[in-house]
Amino acid sequence: MRHGMNRYIVAVTGASGVEYALRFLWHLSHCEGASDLIASPNFFRVAETELMLAGDNLLDLAAKKFGALGEAHQFAFCDYRNIGARAASGSASYRSMVVLPCSMKSLAAIAHGLSSNLIERAADVSLKERRPLILCPRETPLSAIHLQNMLTLTRAGATVMPLMPGYYHRPQNLVDLYDFMTDRIFQHMGFSERVVKPWS
Ligand SMILES: Cc1cc2nc3c(=O)[nH]c(=O)nc-3n(C[C@H](O)[C@H](O)[C@H](O)COP(=O)(O)O)c2cc1C
Repeated sequence: MRHGMNRYIVAVTGASGVEYALRFLWHLSHCEGASDLIASPNFFRVAETELMLAGDNLLDLAAKKFGALGEAHQFAFCDYRNIGARAASGSASYRSMVVLPCSMKSLAAIAHGLSSNLIERAADVSLKERRPLILCPRETPLSAIHLQNMLTLTRAGATVMPLMPGYYHRPQNLVDLYDFMTDRIFQHMGFSERVVKPWS
């Protein structure tokens, strides 16, 4: 495997649905590979409201919510303000990037190539380097501006994958819904691991 082909970028922003991100990280910790983690400070603001848990360590929050993480994956924390980090350069190799959840603000910034923080810059680089970029927005209802930005991103090569789990696998609880989304995201990021049984 080419250098960097087992390395990913995982970014989290201040949209609702922080548990989707924490459950995704919990599953990711059981997959071989390495990820650069980038968190917008707004993610932790929303996490405080939704989980009633304070803290700014994504992995600790994931473990508090879903139990001990696996040891198969290596995580590197990256400063959201450091636009000189590895993920900001097109010369670094990554297999894919996900923004989960993706706020409408970050979605707009990525759609317009603003690159004003490391998440936006890494997403911009993913698009220019033609690497898979998966954006998982959460908002409702959607304005014409939101929809236009999603169309712009899709046309630029990103995969817009809203946090809209299916119900045909008969979820019994919220975790089943998080797992559904993790499974779909894994497929688009290039993981062979499955989290839910494929439909047959
Ligand atoms: C409790 C809470 C929930 C929020 N939920 C959403 C949401 O679901 N979708 C969204 O686009 N923005 C949401 N926001 C607003 C974003 O956090 C805000 O636009 C912020 O500027 C996003 O910045 P970031 O993308 O850099 O994290 C929420 C804010 C708070 C405080």
